[in-house]
Amino acid sequence: MIENSKLTVIGAGAVGSSVAYAALIRGAARHVALYDIDAAKTEAEVLDLAHGTLFTPGSDIVGGADISVAEGSHVVVITAGAKQKPGQTRIELAATNARIVRDIMQRTLEVAPDAIFVIVSNPCDVLTMLAHEGSGLPAERVFASGTLLDSSRLRWELSRRAGVAASAVHAQIVGEHGDTEFPLWSAARINAVPILDWAGPDGAPLFTREELDRIAVDVRDAAYTVIQGKGATNYAIGLSSVRIVEAILGDESAVLNVAPVLSDFHGIDGVALSVPCLVDSAGARPIRETPFDDGELERLRASAAALEKVAAGLRD
Ligand code: 2OP
Repeated sequence: MIENSKLTVIGAGAVGSSVAYAALIRGAARHVALYDIDAAKTEAEVLDLAHGTLFTPGSDIVGGADISVAEGSHVVVITAGAKQKPGQTRIELAATNARIVRDIMQRTLEVAPDAIFVIVSNPCDVLTMLAHEGSGLPAERVFASGTLLDSSRLRWELSRRAGVAASAVHAQIVGEHGDTEFPLWSAARINAVPILDWAGPDGAPLFTREELDRIAVDVRDAAYTVIQGKGATNYAIGLSSVRIVEAILGDESAVLNVAPVLSDFHGIDGVALSVPCLVDSAGARPIRETPFDDGELERLRASAAALEKVAAGLRD
């Protein structure tokens, strides 16, 4: 655990405030700071969060519209930018949010030059590629929250149907945090049982491959469903982002599906997309030995190509 650790959350909207809230409840950092250009909103969020710290493990929270609140941060989670409207894809936010993230990265680095940056703003993978290029940081120090959230959604869905704790469901989503994401069914299991062998109450396999693929589509589209109903997603992305913060500040070497810019990863270069990574105080490093079957490799490369195309359009 990094002594006297500091997390700064950039953006005091629904997602940023949920990240700060989750960090306080889980005691993820000794100090939490919240920054946004909207001073009144940020100060109100900080006050509301601070009023509850009596009931949290022991962090303090500060914040405001001056980037100096980020001074000396060990981890910076960037949530600033426009959010998806009902039916809008994450990719459609790219041009607007690229400018916002590029600017805030530059200003934050001036006051927190040693921080690890976790990009949550969408499209998080593409914004990570631009942030990596613009900042000159090593890939492990600037990565997207990626499909950790999607993997949590998948594990929840499978655990619900199998009647088994999600902690025993080993299944993951890789690729883009978005419409080209896909599950690694070849490695999916419940405890030591391959997912397709898991038996239901009648002793027959509970899942067919077709059912699993339908579950994967529901997971891929989960954000659209939530946004349609309540206008945004915030709780699950808040919790999954704080899980990443804990792995960094706790120097855990945890295996989490996050998205650094990959180099020579099964032929993928220069694209940020989610694969299993080791996450510790130095940041996120992809686990190169991760096995993919031929179909999964093809989908991973397709996801990479889709993201590279979007990023190229933003560089022009
Ligand atoms: C999510 O998947 C919107 O990317 C956000 O909840």
